[in-house]
Amino acid sequence: MKPVKIGILGLGTVGGGTVNVLTRNAEEIARRAGREIQITRASARSLDRPRICDTQGIELTTDSFAIVNDPEIEVVLELIGGDSLAKDLVMQAIENGKHVVTANKALIALHGNEIFSKASEKGVMVLFEAAVAGGIPIIKAIREGLSGNRIEWLAGIINGTGNFILTEMRDKGRDFEDVLAEAQALGYAEADPTFDVEGIDAAHKLTILASIAFGIPLQFDKAYTEGITRITQQDVAYAEELGYRIKHLGIARKTEQGVELRVHPTLIPERRLLANVDGVMNAVLVQGDAVGPTLHYGAGAGAEPTASAVVADVVDVVRALTSDPENRVPHLAFQSDALVDIPVLSANEIDTAYYLRLTAEDKPGVLADISRILAAYKISIEALIQKEPKAGETSLPLILLTQKTLEKEMKAAINEIEALSTVSGQVNLIRLETLK
Ligand code: HSE
Repeated sequence: MKPVKIGILGLGTVGGGTVNVLTRNAEEIARRAGREIQITRASARSLDRPRICDTQGIELTTDSFAIVNDPEIEVVLELIGGDSLAKDLVMQAIENGKHVVTANKALIALHGNEIFSKASEKGVMVLFEAAVAGGIPIIKAIREGLSGNRIEWLAGIINGTGNFILTEMRDKGRDFEDVLAEAQALGYAEADPTFDVEGIDAAHKLTILASIAFGIPLQFDKAYTEGITRITQQDVAYAEELGYRIKHLGIARKTEQGVELRVHPTLIPERRLLANVDGVMNAVLVQGDAVGPTLHYGAGAGAEPTASAVVADVVDVVRALTSDPENRVPHLAFQSDALVDIPVLSANEIDTAYYLRLTAEDKPGVLADISRILAAYKISIEALIQKEPKAGETSLPLILLTQKTLEKEMKAAINEIEALSTVSGQVNLIRLETLK
């Protein structure tokens, strides 16, 4: 059979890694796909930059549209990132009847509904395994391996850069900025690293996971997003004292009221496997009604781990090239006419437990006042630590863990606690999940 000709848009970390994997493992990959895969053309912003891959035999161009408009190319790999030029290129490729493989989570989270609708109209495949959790085949696992289950919830460490930063800060006491610079040098971070540390990248990925887990349209604008920049060494230490670790989690949960879709720092019991996922590694815990919990672990970023997922999608596309479009695995796991519009809940409707840290005066009645306020909102205290005041100071840190409550109740209680004359400054809140 003739080789399948593919064109790669972008030769950065992911594009370079993909060329390397496709070249090094060409024979093994062809045995799996049933046909040889030939990279005939690739585009890059500049043709003079040093690269991590050998581009011998590949026609290079700075014009990505020349690739998506090339009638010889059957499959386009969109590996440039961003959601504007990438969207134009992907839509043009689809219009031209080409199949697309992308690693672009922002593109799928923001424009996936439109892209998949166009792809269905044109009868082409758009695969995006590398968009979530780097090398972990989590899309395939949920979309295919767990398709007999009702997915109840999932929780994941889905940003390698953020996890790398939190791990280095905790284990080595390293400075936030210093670790972030290392993550950038290693090619883990986004072009705009605030996407990593503010949770936007994780929210893109969570939006995709929730859609394929629950059969709902992609709704990035409804995700609640909170970053890791407010986490202090103090919080990390107090959490450990109470038997917890702080991880930046993406959580999607289906409740009777709707779907919770949230990214935020979270205390989790230190004995959970997820609490021990360190460095750039990612992990996603998926709870299915039939299978129970399954944990999917692996490298969440980096050239070849991400390339591993891109190439797996290329193999899937090549295997299915001759199949009828209606017999292919649906883009978002559920048939497109079977997606349901379950409401995504606002932050106020989140039902979770909490870690609270506040500064209070060291005098009788302070704890009683705080417990009275919490009790009025029916919030139970699970644990409490009261620290000694520092020499010469009259106020001390108080750390409380509460049981689950609706976020709006907790916020109202915090407003009253902050108004107490014996409490200074703001109450620092971190959500807590037992992940049972
Ligand atoms: N910036 C992302 C991360 C890359 O650190 O996880 C992989 O999506």
